[in-house]
Amino acid sequence: MSEFAFRPDPSSHADCAENHRRMLAGELYYSWTPDLVKGRARCKSAMLKYNTEAADGETSRRRVAELLMDLLQDPTPLPPKLDDPEQDADQFDDFPYIDTPIKMDYGSNVKLGKGVYMNSSCTLLDVCPITIGARTLIGPNVHFYSASHPIDPITRNGMRGPELGKPITVGEDCWFGGSCVVLPGVTIGRGVVVGAGSVVTKDVEDFVVVAGNPARVVKRLDVEREKYEAMVKENKERGH
Ligand SMILES: CC(C)(COP(=O)(O)OP(=O)(O)OC[C@H]1O[C@@H](n2cnc3c(N)ncnc32)[C@H](O)[C@@H]1OP(=O)(O)O)[C@@H](O)C(=O)NCCC(=O)NCCS
Repeated sequence: MSEFAFRPDPSSHADCAENHRRMLAGELYYSWTPDLVKGRARCKSAMLKYNTEAADGETSRRRVAELLMDLLQDPTPLPPKLDDPEQDADQFDDFPYIDTPIKMDYGSNVKLGKGVYMNSSCTLLDVCPITIGARTLIGPNVHFYSASHPIDPITRNGMRGPELGKPITVGEDCWFGGSCVVLPGVTIGRGVVVGAGSVVTKDVEDFVVVAGNPARVVKRLDVEREKYEAMVKENKERGH
């Protein structure tokens, strides 16, 4: 059976499971099966809660973390609650933080490292995994698109046709300026700076500044590797 010939029967659990496997594997799949529609609806509800409650400056750091874990469907338990609200909040110093509003498709395919910060109005189309390394800072309005459509219009066939994605992986200690776009399948190394407004179309090596559309290396960073590794080690020793 060619990939194009595969069309899931929405009432078949096995077909829906195979369709979902294809989605995560970067193969052609259909996005309107009941399970995937339900997955996006769940994400919309979790986003609505996050974008409402976390936008309120009075909401505790613990509650914001709970809402984020729910959005990402991450079952990792939070640290036990402390009586003192300030001490309790301190436990989340290196927890990933996303400013509102945020937009994701599923949430469950987004993996954020410790200390990741995302400014407002970012979009993560996570049909395939989008993984962001620890301490990476993301400016406002940055878009990560792991979703794509067939180039051929007959296969694409509007909303009736199949689609496909590719994972996006970002290393530790990167910084994205505002309004960047990262395309499907891109892997970005450690310690990379992406200039504001760039469109990253290809993999990026470690410790460079890239900028422009398409993003090109504009500078290689002379990072002292021993000091850098010591910083990473120190963070890991603190459990981060
Ligand atoms: C990339 C950036 C950090 C500058 O890095 P830098 O290493 O100091 O780079 P330079 O300013 O020396 O620029 C190097 C070259 O890249 C170009 N360049 C820099 N930023 C660029 C961008 N965003 N898009 C296109 N080209 C860019 C410069 O014009 C320069 O080109 P030239 O060599 O032909 O003159 C900065 O330009 C930037 O984009 N900052 C993002 C700020 C932001 O978005 N803040 C929001 C909060 S996170």
